[in-house]
Amino acid sequence: MGTREVGLPATVKANGLPERVTIWEVGARDGLQNESTVVPVDVKLEFLARLADAGLGVLEATSFVHPKWVPQLADAEELLAGLTKVDGVSYPVLVPNERGLDRALAAGVQHIAIFGSATETFAKRNLNRTLDEQFGMFDPVVTRARAEGLDVRAYVSMCFGDPWEGAVAADQVASVGKRLMDMGCSQLSLGDTIGVATPGQVESVIAATSSVGVPIGDIAVHFHDTYGQALSNTLAALRLGVTTVDSSAGGLGGCPYAESATGNLATEDLVWMLDGLGVQTGVDLDKLADTSAWMAGRLGRPAPSRVVQALRG
Ligand code: HMG
Ligand code: MG
Repeated sequence: MGTREVGLPATVKANGLPERVTIWEVGARDGLQNESTVVPVDVKLEFLARLADAGLGVLEATSFVHPKWVPQLADAEELLAGLTKVDGVSYPVLVPNERGLDRALAAGVQHIAIFGSATETFAKRNLNRTLDEQFGMFDPVVTRARAEGLDVRAYVSMCFGDPWEGAVAADQVASVGKRLMDMGCSQLSLGDTIGVATPGQVESVIAATSSVGVPIGDIAVHFHDTYGQALSNTLAALRLGVTTVDSSAGGLGGCPYAESATGNLATEDLVWMLDGLGVQTGVDLDKLADTSAWMAGRLGRPAPSRVVQALRG
């Protein structure tokens, strides 16, 4: 047993876990895209600066989507123009189509993420494309981005259940994910957009995805915490060898085109668990909790994260 201090978990290592996990912080994008009000750009910039200072190395900054579809992120150009990039920190942005890529390239972005859907209904609702048409939209984005030397991540949404279609077959997720990876993406993030997954299902979807040839090291997990399963699901994924986990400071988040989605796995909750397990993240939990408490003040409501509530409530 490690030494227990107030506000820190005891560190007790468990078998079968990675030495280190990369946290892909989505607070400024997934976290803020669902807010009922538009957060001022200077608050977003301070949020990003504080997250970098807390030791997070990947900060998903914004989206180059249609401004009418996601008005909360319509300030993407202004945000990037005002961003002071910290050495060693990557600032990926979401890009759905070539128009979005043009905008991202003009803003000097080096890392993008496309975002596909495992289901027909969500492809239509989130992208205004059929399931099959989405590939035609993404393909030229990935080809051009790679030719420009950009790194491209692929998301797949609704991997564990869809509010309109119900259950989603693991094979369907694997086949959509493989098609996106084959375009030239370097990482596949499996999204539980509405937070319904449970750990056995996580194992099954990851197994199906690796069985079609996506290496486990290229798979990331993206859990929303609607039903309180996000941490358990994360642990299941880590035990299978996943080393990149998406989370959002304070547990902010949701998807405006999937109404049943609530906040993402909170970064503080994730760091608390990983600190306790002795898994390295490079994140300073105190600074991070301060940041989320500060952001909660800007948003006018408490952070959903249980750890932030326990440490700063
Ligand atoms: P569309 O209406 O089909 O677009 O939207 P279009 O291609 O028909 O173009 C119509 C007009 O929009 C054109 O202008 C385009 O130039 C313009 P016009 O010629 O009529 O003047 N346009 C754009 N303008 C600025 N930026 C652009 C852009 N694209 C077209 N990028 C589109 C298709 C994909 C653009 C739209 O459906 C869209 O923006 N969707 C984004 C929805 C979104 O951001 N959802 C949330 C992110 S996904 C998520 O949260 C899930 C995730 O977290 C993982 C998980 O939890 O599972 C990632
Ligand atoms: Mg999400």
